[in-house]
Amino acid sequence: MTGTTPQGTASEQAASQWVRGMFGRIAPRYDLLNHLLSFNLDKQWRARSVARVSAILDRPDAQVLDLCCGTGDVLLALENRARRPLLASDFCHPMLLEARRKIVGHGFRTPVFEADALSLPLANSSLDLITVAFGFRNLANYQHGLEEMLRVLKPGGMAAILEFSQPSNRVFRALYGFFSTRVLPRIGGAISGSPEAYSYLPESIRKFPGAEQLAQEMRRAGFSRVEFERMTGGAVALHLGYK
Ligand SMILES: C[S@@+](CC[C@H](N)C(=O)[O-])C[C@H]1O[C@@H](n2cnc3c(N)ncnc32)[C@H](O)[C@@H]1O
Repeated sequence: MTGTTPQGTASEQAASQWVRGMFGRIAPRYDLLNHLLSFNLDKQWRARSVARVSAILDRPDAQVLDLCCGTGDVLLALENRARRPLLASDFCHPMLLEARRKIVGHGFRTPVFEADALSLPLANSSLDLITVAFGFRNLANYQHGLEEMLRVLKPGGMAAILEFSQPSNRVFRALYGFFSTRVLPRIGGAISGSPEAYSYLPESIRKFPGAEQLAQEMRRAGFSRVEFERMTGGAVALHLGYK
C-alpha cells in the first residue's frame, strides 16, 4: 500500500500536484457530477457516515476535523448534526472556495484551512474525530496519511474513512466496472471539461486497497477497534478506527 499514482506521475510530489490540479479544474462542476454519477447515493453514504460518528458530534466540546473536505458536503452534514461550526481542510484552493460559499450560505462560520493531509498544521493529540470522505484514496502516501491522522487525534479519538471500494458480488462488480470505466468517464469528462479527471476516478478506485486490506493497514498503522461497513453492495466502504 503506497498511494495514488495518476498516469504519468513518477513521484509522490508529482502525484500530489496532479491530484490538486485536477480537483482545481473540476471544482465548479464537482457537486453536480457527484450527485449525477452516483445517482444521488452519495447523500445516503454521507448521511450514514454522520450517523456512525454522531456520538462524538453530540459532545459539545468535541474537536472535529473534516479532512479533504472538498466542496463541504460532509462538513455541512456533520455541522447540521452537531449544530455548531467544526474544522475543515483541503489542499485545493478552488474546492475550498466552493466550500466557503456553501458554508456561508448555511449560516456557519467554519474555520476552513488549506493544508496537505500528509502534513497538517495541527498540534499532536488535538482532535476527537477526523472524517475523510472520498479523499483518502487520493493521498500520495496512504501510510503517511494514517500516521498523520493518528498524530493529531487524541487518545481515544476516532478516524472515519469513507471511500470507494470493490463490490463483493461478481455480477454487480462487472456491471459497476462497465459503468465506471465506460459510462462515467464520458459523462464526467463531457460535463466537467476535464476527461482526465473521470478516467482517473475508476483507475484510482481499481488500484485502491479492498476493504479488508484497508482495515489491516489501519491496524498496522496503530489504529485499534478497526471495523468497516460496506454500502451499496460494497461499492463504498466506511472504515472506523480509534487511536
Ligand atoms: C473526491 S473529493 C471529496 C470531497 C468531499 N470530502 C466529498 O465527500 O465530496 C477529494 C478531495 O480530497 C482533496 N485532497 C486530495 N488529496 C489531498 C491531500 N493530500 N491533502 C488535502 N486534501 C486532499 C482534494 O483536493 C479533493 O477536494
